Amino acid sequence: MQQDGNTKVSALFETAVAAAVRAPSVHNTQPWRWRLDGETIRLFADRDRQLPATDPSQRALLLSCGAALHHLRMALAEAGLTASVTYFPDLADPDHLADITATTAAPSPEDLDMAAAIPDRRSDRRRFGPRPVPARQLRAVARAALPYSAAARLVPPNLRDLLAEVGHLAADRHRADPGYQRELSAWSGRHGTADGVPAANTPPVRGGDLAMRFFAEPELADRPLPDDTAEWFALCTPADDRLARVKAGEAASAVLLTATGLGLATCLQTEPLELPELRDEVRSEVLFDCAFAHALVRVGSVPAEAEPLPATPRRAPAEVIESDTAIGHVREAASSVRI
Ligand SMILES: Cc1cc2nc3c(=O)[nH]c(=O)nc-3n(C[C@H](O)[C@H](O)[C@H](O)COP(=O)(O)O)c2cc1C
Repeated sequence: MQQDGNTKVSALFETAVAAAVRAPSVHNTQPWRWRLDGETIRLFADRDRQLPATDPSQRALLLSCGAALHHLRMALAEAGLTASVTYFPDLADPDHLADITATTAAPSPEDLDMAAAIPDRRSDRRRFGPRPVPARQLRAVARAALPYSAAARLVPPNLRDLLAEVGHLAADRHRADPGYQRELSAWSGRHGTADGVPAANTPPVRGGDLAMRFFAEPELADRPLPDDTAEWFALCTPADDRLARVKAGEAASAVLLTATGLGLATCLQTEPLELPELRDEVRSEVLFDCAFAHALVRVGSVPAEAEPLPATPRRAPAEVIESDTAIGHVREAASSVRI
């Protein structure tokens, strides 16, 4: 009986982690580690996968882990469980980001839709289709950020030139930054690896209205469409501490999965926010000094006859689950489907 319960908990944990690792992460670094300890799932940041030149403050690392945490929440919801999260449970260990316990609860239709969207979500860096995104869909996407003390502010058309300008300025500065370039070459232009950004998922760099991060050795054909019709959201929080960054990552995941579930194309863009003075400009000009920006999210329609994008690779769950997670440590728990 105990063995059955342990096996069930362990299987559920592995299923949930398999969904969590599908989360987006900066340069597909997948900077997370997971552990099952009794009834508690523990999430840790993997500092060995930080990008010191690109992300010295660990904002992108924490956002990535927050996105994985949200993916895990949705996988638990799909299994009929609701997650209760304690953030930063160990003050002595800043890499210990969250403890998650779960209890039986009927999932909301929104959570089920987001869980169903996990395998379909892609970072699509191509031009989006000409069909405008209906206002009701934009509202649904923006609403998805709210449970995480975050907001997804739709950037009005008159400020899109400013976004393009800060994007191009960031690209110019990064072109002249050897540390940034080293990390970009190490983590992109990949073929057949379990992490990093595959060459097959990145189009060549463009100018003009669309300022997107340049990745090494791009192999993806862009779409021969005129000016981009995408909408941009600025994902922001009232605070700018580590907790806000993890929660902003959860909100980013919720926004991306909601949009994917609605059949929209999406991509995160953080390059201009990696440079403090450009991030300040976005804070002043786009957010009127009311909130801190963590990511820009590009959302648009998928053109008719769109070529599907291949899924980017991930390390296997066994590689990100800490080895001291042993079935012998799992207490009897699963008979009530509590973990
Ligand atoms: C914090 C964060 C920052 C990111 N910044 C960018 C970016 O500036 N430009 C970009 O094209 N993609 C960005 N991405 C997307 C990642 O490159 C992408 O998630 C990763 O390569 C995995 O691919 P997938 O999203 O298709 O699964 C970012 C993702 C995260 C979580």
